[in-house]
Amino acid sequence: MCGIVGYIGPRNATPIILNGLRRLEYRGYDSAGIAVMEKEKIEIRREAGKLANLDRLVEREPLSGAPGIGHTRWATHGAPSARNAHPHLGNSGRVVVVHNGIVENFLEIKEELVSEGVVFNSDTDTETIVHLVERYQSSGLNLIESSRKTFQHIQGAHGVVLMSADEPDKIVCARIGNAGGVVIGLGDGENFIASDIPAILEHTRRVIFLESRQMAVITRNSVLVETIGGEKITPQIHVVAFDPVAAEKGEYRHFMQKEIHEQVRSLTDTLAGRVDFERGRVRLPELNLTPEIANRIEKIYITACGTAAYAGMVGKTLIEKIARIPVEVVIGSEFRYSDPIINRNTVVLAISQSGETADTLAAMEEGRKKGAIIWSIVNAIGSQAMRVADGSISMQTGPEIGVASTKAFTAPLVDQYMLAILLADLRGVIDEKTRKSLVADLRLVPDLVGRALQREPDVEKIAYLLKDIRGCLYLGRGINMPIAYEGALKLKEISYIHAEGYPAGEMKHGPIALIDENMPVVCIAPKDPWHEKMISQIQQARARQGTVIAVASDGDDLVSGIADHILWIPESPWMLSPLVTVIPLQLLAYHIATIRGLDVDQPRNLAKSVTVE
Ligand code: AGP
Repeated sequence: MCGIVGYIGPRNATPIILNGLRRLEYRGYDSAGIAVMEKEKIEIRREAGKLANLDRLVEREPLSGAPGIGHTRWATHGAPSARNAHPHLGNSGRVVVVHNGIVENFLEIKEELVSEGVVFNSDTDTETIVHLVERYQSSGLNLIESSRKTFQHIQGAHGVVLMSADEPDKIVCARIGNAGGVVIGLGDGENFIASDIPAILEHTRRVIFLESRQMAVITRNSVLVETIGGEKITPQIHVVAFDPVAAEKGEYRHFMQKEIHEQVRSLTDTLAGRVDFERGRVRLPELNLTPEIANRIEKIYITACGTAAYAGMVGKTLIEKIARIPVEVVIGSEFRYSDPIINRNTVVLAISQSGETADTLAAMEEGRKKGAIIWSIVNAIGSQAMRVADGSISMQTGPEIGVASTKAFTAPLVDQYMLAILLADLRGVIDEKTRKSLVADLRLVPDLVGRALQREPDVEKIAYLLKDIRGCLYLGRGINMPIAYEGALKLKEISYIHAEGYPAGEMKHGPIALIDENMPVVCIAPKDPWHEKMISQIQQARARQGTVIAVASDGDDLVSGIADHILWIPESPWMLSPLVTVIPLQLLAYHIATIRGLDVDQPRNLAKSVTVE
């Protein structure tokens, strides 16, 4: 997902923008650029590759002034290059744009503009935006009105920021659909724009989130928000709680390692204020869940992407087991094309760390269109998935910077466990003794996860054994089957080793042909209701010379007697076991990737939040 930073005020915009873009690096990008108003002329510097390349260019060819806008680009149309990097300048040399999203009708617009003699200087869809603004300006409209007409003309989802040398006292921006956020930071005699909060937190914590189809005109001392149709809006000003220092690595080598180890705190935080251990009850007031609603729910769709979808698969087992409500997990990119059967008694529950994943947001819109109750479990404060839902449970983990999701995987497991208890309680399908026992088990979570994390040195030893493998199978059953998928995804996305998560019982129907001495098999075999079945799975893999790495509960002599290597974890209540079984698999993927010398926090080809389809 692209990163955007803008500044208007008395200071030199250049360092503010470059530092802000650095705080957005985790979003993944392949080129970067900056434009600054210097003596009423627009200066631009752009480079392919990482921000360090742009820094070096700016050192060689400094630029200074304000306002300014900057951008990190994740290529969609046009290869990653300086030529295609944003900002893009119009042919007049007086208007410049940065953009997040896709201009879905850009071909049609480009043909129209070229036929009018407009010269294009890049292969991007974004360039159509600045040429459209110039076309409207040439008909006599000012920057605001030219921008408005352009925002009405382009189709798709966008975050757009423009500025003009003819009107250097303002910046114009807009948010259309779900292409990542547009956040306005309110300073004292200066204002900021960004696609995400970390970019501007060191300057201000007072922010305005633009909603879809809203635009803003920003000067040093004013922010005017309206719909792109022209209706004036009085925006809500949020004060952002989290501390920018929290978004730093601390003593860890990578954000990912820090966030894996943060899970004791982040799980404590996701429980905070929601569990009454005395009375054995949970509270999720932000869900606006009444007994009337709870009792008429007939089905829950859980929709999400990637890691978040695997968290939803665990949630399915928890909600069906505890609250006895049918649950179906449908990945975001399939949901809206599956013509889901929905009525007013259906819940669509979206899970999303960023709250900006286009496929997940589109699934929520599909549910809304069909009359469902829309809930979400989200980490990013103020994100779209949090704002459009009827009720939203915050993961409360603090910012997750590493592209590979870890703490934002375990938090929704606990959130869904609490949701299941609340639903069961309101629907009267759980007796007090069972409810109190399930709630009491939540008290164990931080300690269980902390003890699993303490085994990191043992995990690192096994990582050395696996660092040169060409492929790996992850097998799990029941509530831990999704952990097989998640463990495999972690290894794939940061070590670039092919790995496949599979329902262990399915191996004998074909995939077992893959197993030989070159195909290690990770078997997730904690003391849970499927433990016995996993024992035979391990034996089947060993019988075919597969090297078995088993995730096993402390003291399990059965498993340790048949597996080649053990990733020990503390024994836990089976419904909480995924919180624990996933820890060694997060660490295993992290250490294999680190040993292989790869960019753990920003893996190739990946973005932290995929805001395009
Ligand atoms: C997880 O490690 C990946 N980075 C990816 O699968 C991610 O979970 C997915 O893109 C969903 O992102 P979200 O939670 O922000 O919606």
